[in-house]
Amino acid sequence: MFFVRTASERDLDQVRALLVETWHATYDSFYGGDKVDELTAKWHSIDALRARLQRKNAEFVVADNGREIAGMGFAAMSDTLEKTVILHQLYVLPKYQRQGVGRDMFAELETCFPDAERMRVEVEPRNLHALAFYRAHGFSEVASTANCGDEHSGIPALILEKQLA
Ligand SMILES: CC(C)(COP(=O)(O)OP(=O)(O)OC[C@H]1O[C@@H](n2cnc3c(N)ncnc32)[C@H](O)[C@@H]1OP(=O)(O)O)[C@@H](O)C(=O)NCCC(=O)NCCS
Repeated sequence: MFFVRTASERDLDQVRALLVETWHATYDSFYGGDKVDELTAKWHSIDALRARLQRKNAEFVVADNGREIAGMGFAAMSDTLEKTVILHQLYVLPKYQRQGVGRDMFAELETCFPDAERMRVEVEPRNLHALAFYRAHGFSEVASTANCGDEHSGIPALILEKQLA
């Protein structure tokens, strides 16, 4: 049984390993393994993860059973969009997918931002499993971008939003 809790510094090595494994499983067929290595070295370094732990107006969670971390999620209030929380990351290890871990982490993240009126997420258009997950959780498509993640990534994404209560 996995419980969702706030992440801490001592989780970062496991979170990084989880992201490397889950990113290769999810994105190698779209971008190639070398590109995934390049992106994951930049976006999922321990320093990058630590900066997220320390970010204000943000929530970094893990799903933990006391021995293993099955998933991680990170959301933060947008610096540019009013009353909008950005779901930056939601990842579950392949062997634990489709067992409710993503749903439990998402349920925690969507209740952490009482000032937000909407949650926004960017999703690779070919990532049909993730699109199915977000549609099942009330998101719908509002736009698209040619540069997911950072200004120069060159990675296209659909932008989905959900109105929060
Ligand atoms: C997308 C992801 C976070 C979902 O988490 P999960 O723990 O696997 O999903 P859950 O078991 O909580 O699914 C909840 C519901 O979402 C929908 N869903 C989830 N995965 C689905 C899939 N592969 N196909 C269709 N619907 C799916 C279903 O409605 C599911 O409910 P059900 O199992 O009762 O039918 C996880 O699969 C993952 O990490 N995938 C790879 C990385 C990724 O794409 N992350 C998102 C980046 S934007």
